[in-house]
Amino acid sequence: MSILITNIKQLLQVHETNITIVKGRAMKTLPTLENAYLYIENDTIIEYGNMADCEGFDAETIINAEGKIVLPSWCDSHTHVVYAGDRTSEFVDRINGLSYAEIANKGGGILNSAKVLQNTSEEDLYQQSLKRLNELIAMGTGAVEIKTGYGLTVEAELKMLRVIKRLKQESLAKIIPTLLAAHAIPEAFRSKKQDYITYITDELIPKAAALNITNYIDVFCEDGYFNIEDTEAILKAGKTHNLQPKIHVNQFNVLGGIALGVKHNALSVDHLEELNDSDVNALKGSDTIPVALPGCSYFLSIPYTPARQLIDAGLPLAIATDYNPGSSPSGNMNFIVSAACVKLKMTPEEAINAATINGAYAMGISNMYGSITRGKKANLIITKPMNHYSEIPYAFAHHPVEQVIINGQILG
Ligand code: NIG
Ligand code: FE
Repeated sequence: MSILITNIKQLLQVHETNITIVKGRAMKTLPTLENAYLYIENDTIIEYGNMADCEGFDAETIINAEGKIVLPSWCDSHTHVVYAGDRTSEFVDRINGLSYAEIANKGGGILNSAKVLQNTSEEDLYQQSLKRLNELIAMGTGAVEIKTGYGLTVEAELKMLRVIKRLKQESLAKIIPTLLAAHAIPEAFRSKKQDYITYITDELIPKAAALNITNYIDVFCEDGYFNIEDTEAILKAGKTHNLQPKIHVNQFNVLGGIALGVKHNALSVDHLEELNDSDVNALKGSDTIPVALPGCSYFLSIPYTPARQLIDAGLPLAIATDYNPGSSPSGNMNFIVSAACVKLKMTPEEAINAATINGAYAMGISNMYGSITRGKKANLIITKPMNHYSEIPYAFAHHPVEQVIINGQILG
């Protein structure tokens, strides 16, 4: 199978030598080829260049991308795509004045989603999740992290992991599973949180790790959920099973989760709507990437991650959807790129870097995904006709994607 894409108006994120992350000031640069071609064989980017040099390719399929932009597929490094039901009634409760915390405190929120998931069959959960996954692929996402965390029992967490495994096997998209071992404290453990931590460290983590589906562990480090000591105990248990942290921190409060994540070699620290100088300093010189989730800020009306503070300190930044039923019920990365520009004050170049190569880094796959580089996977977006790539974030809430190529296969 070979595909030649010709007459590309702008080919974005082109790197002669492979890159795996873009940091600080370098995020303002998005290497672009005007009037370009791209040649793919099977699932791999083989060649690209100026149209004037496009000779000698005998491709089975030719796509004329005249007037269109071609770029690496979005890399969405933080989602909870596997869930059951929805939380529309809580959405209305919030409109009517209740806060996210007030809803959670009366048994709603994550506990609500867990109850529904526990009572949903594995097949039904798979079908509901597959539908969402296919929708986000059609919107341009080619690699996606998917967390567990709505199980809250060993049995239900393993069910979630099996569903993620099946999605991974059957979808063309690259899927990175994460064990969100500690997402909320179940009702039955409310007055004995320590017992639940032990349940996680001694039962859930070993059983989940034995399935060999995930390399990552997540904790919701937050007031009312898991504090710094709880989080550290869980990360240490994960480490004994070679699970690397990717953690929820600083969503509502600064507890020191960022420094803890860095200390435990977290691949990413995600949310960061609240951030102080020592958080920023903790990230300097580390291999841990901060991840902003502007869909969550939008939907919950909470502060946006201070991206400028992070990028201007020389740090890298990724952006992701946080697709989940409670705080961000959308998997549309095009909107996230737009929100990054409008609300996080990132330039289109910074936002596209954050949603491609840096998103791939936050999933540990940026050696093979996230840029147009020979030898990398052919995961691509072909946009509708537009004059410049800045239109992707500019025309917010539109659907800029015309066609996607995943693993060298054309969809749509
Ligand atoms: O990333 N903050 C923790 N977890 C999710 C929300 C979970 C939910 O409300 O269902 C998040 O925002
Ligand atoms: Fe999340």
